[in-house]
Amino acid sequence: MEKYVIKGGNALEGEVTIAGAKNAALGILAAAVLTDDECIIENVPYVEDTKVLLRAIEAIGAKVKYIDTHTVSICGGTIENDEDLCVTGEYIRKIRASYYLLGALLGKFNRAQVALPGGCEIGLRPIDQHIKGFEALGAKVCIDNGGNVVAKAERLVGSHVYMDVVTVGATINIMLAAVLAEGKTTIENAAKEPHIVDVANFLNSMGANIKGAGTDVIRIRGVQRLKGTEYSIIPDQIEAGTFMTMAVATKGNILIKNVIPKHLEAITSKLNEIGAHVIEYDDAVRVMADGRLKPTQVKTLPYPGFPTDMQPQMVTTLALSQGTSVITESIFENRFRYVAELARMGAKIKVEGNSAVITGMEGYKGADLVAPDLRAGAALVIAALAAEGFSTVEDIKYILRGYENFDEKIRALGGEIQVIDSEKELMKFKLRVG
Ligand code: EPZ
Repeated sequence: MEKYVIKGGNALEGEVTIAGAKNAALGILAAAVLTDDECIIENVPYVEDTKVLLRAIEAIGAKVKYIDTHTVSICGGTIENDEDLCVTGEYIRKIRASYYLLGALLGKFNRAQVALPGGCEIGLRPIDQHIKGFEALGAKVCIDNGGNVVAKAERLVGSHVYMDVVTVGATINIMLAAVLAEGKTTIENAAKEPHIVDVANFLNSMGANIKGAGTDVIRIRGVQRLKGTEYSIIPDQIEAGTFMTMAVATKGNILIKNVIPKHLEAITSKLNEIGAHVIEYDDAVRVMADGRLKPTQVKTLPYPGFPTDMQPQMVTTLALSQGTSVITESIFENRFRYVAELARMGAKIKVEGNSAVITGMEGYKGADLVAPDLRAGAALVIAALAAEGFSTVEDIKYILRGYENFDEKIRALGGEIQVIDSEKELMKFKLRVG
């Protein structure tokens, strides 16, 4: 089984270029099937989650072609609207974003059948708000015996949907179902993440009429048909944030390119607060740190609050501060599973309910670690890069779901990391890096 081996202790320095936003790409790739024309989508991150979703889109009959590593052409005109149309298979159950095909196929054909979504085990992750939205548009939704969500409507009619919780997935899914519905849909208490805006911009470039994305009220006027488009996805806020915390935890100096600094404000302001230095440019940020960090309080919140997807990386960084920090996780109820791994590296972190109380320490010690999910996996890599000695990180399949060329990018910054799949390779690495 492949794992990372890492020798910590190097300050990471240099430049890194951020890929397209995974969570925007997932919504956009699914949205592309809404038209029968060809959509050309640029800046698609080449990560496992997008590859799996594209495989599913191809499996239902769409034409999918990689024009180059980051440019994908999708033509939904060849999808046959018959009774058997079902997005299923073991591989699709592993990703969360399969649920976007529910909204997209429902919007296109007035019916959809998709395997219940999987994804990282970070909480219960119900889909009641997605279902509530589809039902408001006139669909009947049930779960069949095979574990598929089945949604059907005579016709979809615009409606008023109030989200009981702020949810990224349901906001995007309801937009997908509503763009071709008759009349006007209003989504209240909508999520405001940059990827919501990106999906809305993509749909508008296909001819949809969506207003208010990025605020908590989104207004959609249904249109008769959507057309093909060419579109480039925004940079990944969380990949950028991960490299920002990596610079701080390793006391390095990294220029992080191809970012939208505005999307990083919550992260930037916390890093400045703990004593790091973040310099913002038009489409880049430079992050530097030296000396001990200061502790702070962080609460994860929907955008523009501090992102839950940066919580593990921030805890990992704060464990190196001088004093006591508290991080409260308010989005997902099971997102501290990696803390036990950090403890084996010497971290002093106590989880009480949905908060982690972190007593800062001088430095991590290398250990053999297992990634429990995507962002926690990235956080363990950060800890290992900052640690004294060797670490290994198993289950890197989670990390590969959302980070493109993660090890290559880290090596280019001077980090000692390699993918290995045998003891022999581990020994070779240790001999090489000393
Ligand atoms: C998206 O998940 C992202 N995934 C997650 O990214 C991210 O952590 C999350 O949004 C929050 O930003 C994708 O975009 C594919 P939510 P999603 O619906 O859509 C509750 C990563 O690491 N809820 O915004 O599943 C839910 O339980 C990941 O890249 C309901 O109660 O998240 C949670 O507490 C992991 N009912 C809260 O809302 C619903 O119907 C927010 O979830 C839907 C959600």
